[in-house]
Amino acid sequence: MARKIIIDTDPGQDDAVAILLALASPEALEVLGITAVAGNVPLSLTQRNARIVCELAGRRDIRVFAGCEKPLAHALVTAEHVHGKTGLDGIDLPEPTMPLQEMHGVDFIIETLRTEPADTVTLCPLGPLTNIATAFRTAPDIIPKVQEIVLMGGAYFEVGNITPAAEFNIYVDPEAAEIVFKSGVPLTVMPLDVTHKVLTTRPRIEAIRAIGSSVAHAVAQWTDFFERFDMEKYGHDGAPLHDPCVIAHLINPGLFSGRHINVEIETMSELTRGMTVADWWGVTKRPKNAHFMGDVDADGFYDLLTERLARL
Ligand code: RIB
Ligand code: CA
Repeated sequence: MARKIIIDTDPGQDDAVAILLALASPEALEVLGITAVAGNVPLSLTQRNARIVCELAGRRDIRVFAGCEKPLAHALVTAEHVHGKTGLDGIDLPEPTMPLQEMHGVDFIIETLRTEPADTVTLCPLGPLTNIATAFRTAPDIIPKVQEIVLMGGAYFEVGNITPAAEFNIYVDPEAAEIVFKSGVPLTVMPLDVTHKVLTTRPRIEAIRAIGSSVAHAVAQWTDFFERFDMEKYGHDGAPLHDPCVIAHLINPGLFSGRHINVEIETMSELTRGMTVADWWGVTKRPKNAHFMGDVDADGFYDLLTERLARL
């Protein structure tokens, strides 16, 4: 029985690859809908980009919703320096013709969780947690009905990527992250500690390009574009492919390992805003609220990704 998921996303080339991986795995995942959130680029572009990706995958049937256009308490911080002006720079794809759903993304999350049986819907946030937190604040009755949240965000040993202390998704909306991390919902976190181990090395990207399809070509072009920033910054022979780690974990959790620990979010200090304070060594008595991933079989991850992209 395929696992029902809602993908909450701010495409973003890596978000786009995550969406493609999910749509290529129907035996494992049923995508109930995609909710766009402001993050890498403004909402007007993330909702457009999500529809572009669905059309690229030949899935005009997928319902795409626009969610929140700004964080709960801060001005929006975007990442065009990484993802380009459109958020999907690297290849020119046609404007989407599939419709954007009328309903607000937050209302879709609430309605879905109220309608589906308890413990049957997993939320997969790939960007700032504004939509998820707003849904929880608006309709607290849905919180106990969520099966699990598997998100990309945070960092501990890898420290920050947008500030010295914080990873982008958490930094953009730390108040939303605090609501999610304190919600009590079973939480699995894919931090930079893991995503920085799945690098877009040349052999891996050429193996994807060699598939020869329009989907594979787009993925190779996207990674060629968005990897330049991190390669220059970190000096590695590839860039981290962050968001597909969330979907890969749902398909094959054995690729990842981590610890069940306490993770709290810094929201008060400007210097460390958005830091995920992960009690990896168990030095506090704070309640364990997150399965925080620390390692990944990177070759296994890319084997899975390449095999699935070849299906589209
Ligand atoms: O820090 C990496 C995260 O920020 C990824 O989700 C990327 O898409 C951006 O949203
Ligand atoms: Ca993202």
